[in-house]
Amino acid sequence: MYLGLDLGTSGLRAILVDEAGIVQGEAEASFDLAHPYPGWSEQDPAAWVTSCETAVAALRRHVPDAFARLRGIGLSGHMHGAILLDAGDRVLRPCILWNDTRSTAEAAALDATPGIREITGNIVFPGFTAPKLAWVRKHEPDLFEKVAKVLLPKDYLRLWLTGEHISDFSDSAGTAWLDVGARDWSDAALEAGGMRRDQMPSLVEGSAPGGTLRPALAEAWGLSQTVTVAGGAGDNAAAACGSGCLGEGTGFASLGTSGVLMAGRDSYSPDPASAVHSFCHAVPDRWYQMGVILAATDSLNWLSRNLGQSPSELARALPDAATGPSALTFLPYLSGERTPHNDSAIRGAFIGLDVSSDRTDLTRAVMEGVAFALRDSLLALKGTGARFDTLLATGGGARSRFWLTTLASVLDLPLSLPKGSELGAAMGAARLAICAADGADPNDVMTAPEAAEIIAPDPALRGAYEDAYQRYRALYPLLSGLG
Ligand code: XUL
Repeated sequence: MYLGLDLGTSGLRAILVDEAGIVQGEAEASFDLAHPYPGWSEQDPAAWVTSCETAVAALRRHVPDAFARLRGIGLSGHMHGAILLDAGDRVLRPCILWNDTRSTAEAAALDATPGIREITGNIVFPGFTAPKLAWVRKHEPDLFEKVAKVLLPKDYLRLWLTGEHISDFSDSAGTAWLDVGARDWSDAALEAGGMRRDQMPSLVEGSAPGGTLRPALAEAWGLSQTVTVAGGAGDNAAAACGSGCLGEGTGFASLGTSGVLMAGRDSYSPDPASAVHSFCHAVPDRWYQMGVILAATDSLNWLSRNLGQSPSELARALPDAATGPSALTFLPYLSGERTPHNDSAIRGAFIGLDVSSDRTDLTRAVMEGVAFALRDSLLALKGTGARFDTLLATGGGARSRFWLTTLASVLDLPLSLPKGSELGAAMGAARLAICAADGADPNDVMTAPEAAEIIAPDPALRGAYEDAYQRYRALYPLLSGLG
């Protein structure tokens, strides 16, 4: 049996799977997110440990025989967070999370360091770890002096589970301290941020062993066998493992709060200029790239709040099949944009409002606008040489047929709708545990889910969506020019 733990922003999901990856038990525990000042986003790492204890206790209650046969644990977690530890492994301050924007100035300064984008393969985004430490150095200097180790969120759970300071390459790639091509800490990038190699955890592949369960915990959980903890992964790499997206041609489109277009890569081909994220994958010799848009279902949620109808009510008013582009264009920059513009100041717009525009027109334009934004990401990814055969469609927005058929036609790619199996980051983490504990080949373990349905692009709409996309693309420079 293998335990997959996914540390999310609002809670921890635990699944127990057997050798074939079939779910035997699941449990969840939630925790809070604090926003003490505008733009700040913090969490107490102790809450993650409590949530893990709660989830394990639930699994031991619900599936005691399966849990007793535990052989491996895999960890996935939200990326980029900074947990600062003193020499005695005491937590020095609350964890600063991935969606905390206090270090915008420090990120811009680090991003301007000559050579940093070449080493790390990415823009230094404010959400990344290095600018957070630069912020602490400036604003909390006494505390900064005490920092003996910096850990990422899932690796703090590992410290509790194993007593060791270890991370994996996929998560560490989001720090802006890693040489993502060489899969090693970069002394030059560390120095640019005022950090040292001895403050970093040691590094392993996500599918390799990364510690063993502490004897005291094993005893408390009623286990006498050795339990291997896998290197694990950042949540997007873990989700890719959970859905079989490893190599060239594989990828997923996620219509979540934010939108992600992910591509598995056999080689390392970064392109920071287009704000593509290029990170190590959780398996050896592979990387992955992502285009990230900040408001996907968040755009529909915004519309729903303002129209007083739920997102599913709004979606129900639309036909099942894509109808071709509407006259109304929506730019989904409600929280700024990452790929391809890297512009935190830009804001959204409706262009082409007519006296006859009604809520259905607005809903349709919002879904199309998100699809166009994902096409921007697709082009940015293709610009690095990424290839897509089909894309797995995931996330809450994939429940809307209109959104799916529109996305397939706008991207001009078939979308694969998986059968209702578990394929998220917790499954990816459990699969990494299978590899680490048993030495299984990741290519055999990380298989793609069976497709329930393939949504094909409509060739009759290709030309019209192409023209509409070109109109959409022309709007960003005009909008940003408004200041
Ligand atoms: C990735 C990112 C998020 C976090 C939280 O760059 O910021 O996906 O990992 O889920």
